[in-house]
Amino acid sequence: MVQQLEVTSPTTHSAEWDPFSVAGRNALVTGAAKGIGHGIAIRLARAGANVLIADIDEAEARRASEALTEASGRPVATRLDVSDTASCQAAVQCCVDEFGSLDLLVNDAGIFPTSPVLEMSPEFFDRVLSVNLKGLFYMSKAAGLQMVKQGRGGKIVNIASIDSVHPSMQGLAAYDSSKGGVLSFTKNFALEMAPHNVNVNAIAPGGITTEGASQPLVGMSAEETTAMMAAFTQRIPLKRMGVPDDIAKVALFLASPAADYMTGALIVVDGGMLLS
Ligand SMILES: NC(=O)c1ccc[n+]([C@@H]2O[C@H](COP(=O)([O-])OP(=O)(O)OC[C@H]3O[C@@H](n4cnc5c(N)ncnc54)[C@H](O)[C@@H]3O)[C@@H](O)[C@H]2O)c1
Repeated sequence: MVQQLEVTSPTTHSAEWDPFSVAGRNALVTGAAKGIGHGIAIRLARAGANVLIADIDEAEARRASEALTEASGRPVATRLDVSDTASCQAAVQCCVDEFGSLDLLVNDAGIFPTSPVLEMSPEFFDRVLSVNLKGLFYMSKAAGLQMVKQGRGGKIVNIASIDSVHPSMQGLAAYDSSKGGVLSFTKNFALEMAPHNVNVNAIAPGGITTEGASQPLVGMSAEETTAMMAAFTQRIPLKRMGVPDDIAKVALFLASPAADYMTGALIVVDGGMLLS
């Protein structure tokens, strides 16, 4: 007897079902005052989520949340330093207090200072790892415990980098170490959270035009940085830098029911940069 294959999940039968809707879901986005994180917060809010904008820059976080008023949902801001484990626990609690639960976590907060290894201080290396990797661990643990307690699954989206798999330029050894760690952490945490129906995935952005990425690089003038960025853009097969919404659309996908069968994956969003 031929077994009937199940090609759709039961929820996909309805014509009104929107696989990219996160309506009614409660989200926390770190580093959401600016750049990619802010773009993700806007996308999630437009798709129906309540969004907590959490950032070390509290004033900017409040401004960013006000800019979300046109979107659906109820944006709220809080100060968060991801390198401080107590601050991460407080941010998760803030989301629960404001919205009633935490269903989606986006780990976006990150820093990308440059230094050659031969001139790098231990403090410099520690700082980059503290924010980009330990901070992601602190947030993931605090949010994971909350999701397990709630008992109805969840989604965690980590912002890694193309540097997780291939160096994009000299001077980023500390950053690349942290982002390689983000990729490994994502895969192992995905295994651990699978029994709890919490999907853990990562995005590897290429060159994205943001406030942070537009700062002059250490040891370079503004003009030299601009020339370096122009040369970088020339190497991108799609011949343009990305914008935050290029990443935000993919983050929404990973946060939505459309990605229910994905966990431990890395989605590269780089205009083809890794191919060049
Ligand atoms: N822009 C790019 O080209 C690019 C490429 C690959 C990966 N990324 C990654 O995307 C993420 C966002 O980058 P971006 O370009 O939007 O940067 P950005 O500097 O424009 O924004 C980063 C945000 O994180 C916040 N932040 C910094 N330290 C924090 C901390 N300790 N606690 C909480 N918030 C903190 C900042 O205040 C800021 O609002 C980072 O993880 C970065 O590594 C960026």
